[in-house]
Amino acid sequence: MIAPSILSADFARLGEEITSIAGEGDNRADWVHVDVMDGHFVPNLTIGLPVVRSLLTTSDVPLDCHLMIEDPDRWAPGYAESGAYNVTVHAEAARDPIMLAKNLRAAGSRAGLSIKPKTPLDDYVEVLKHYDTLLVMSVEPGFGGQSFIPEVLDKVRAARRLVDTGHLTLLVEIDGGINNDTIEQAAEAGVDCFVAGTAVYGAEDPGKAVAALRDQAASASGCRHAHRGGTAPGAQDGHG
Ligand code: DX5
Ligand code: ZN
Repeated sequence: MIAPSILSADFARLGEEITSIAGEGDNRADWVHVDVMDGHFVPNLTIGLPVVRSLLTTSDVPLDCHLMIEDPDRWAPGYAESGAYNVTVHAEAARDPIMLAKNLRAAGSRAGLSIKPKTPLDDYVEVLKHYDTLLVMSVEPGFGGQSFIPEVLDKVRAARRLVDTGHLTLLVEIDGGINNDTIEQAAEAGVDCFVAGTAVYGAEDPGKAVAALRDQAASASGCRHAHRGGTAPGAQDGHG
């Protein structure tokens, strides 16, 4: 699955920028990734709930809201109530991540937990039993256009094992520095959903960039399944 990040889009034309990846066929994104930053949890400020509500009316591509904010326990459920498909909060910011996941699901969205590059996965394995997505940050959150940190792939491999052995039931998502040079190693490590900002909205044709990234990821993860000698697990549907 490919989730273009609108952080790299033209904010004066957000509706059109989403339309450009919301067509039919291979050029269609699976999710639209929306980076909400509060200038406190991260040193940058972007958009909040009023803009997200407007974006929800621009296309039927599910919104994947990545909240890089303090006090997500208080603010995140509003995004779920408004109709976001998946709402991701940061493990480093959540006070009661299990209660928060329950509140997000009760408000009608999937619940996502994100960990920064230096945050260990092991500390959150029990908590993640309550979550639908794990967002592994492959850059320090706050800005688009940074370089991919390959060391985080160890956490992706560990999460993949936990899912494949039935200890967790979630999608493994990666965010930061994903492009045609890095997507294959992430796919081989076991990522299900790839966030890409610069690689999609920096391209001449964002829809074609989505299709190309998905193709690359699919061939690389095909290699992973072949190496393990098994068949690919059933496709995890982003809309069910
Ligand atoms: C960074 C954001 C990312 C960002 C990724 O804090 O969470 O979603 O948009 O941008 P690229 O793909 O350019 O690294
Ligand atoms: Zn993000």
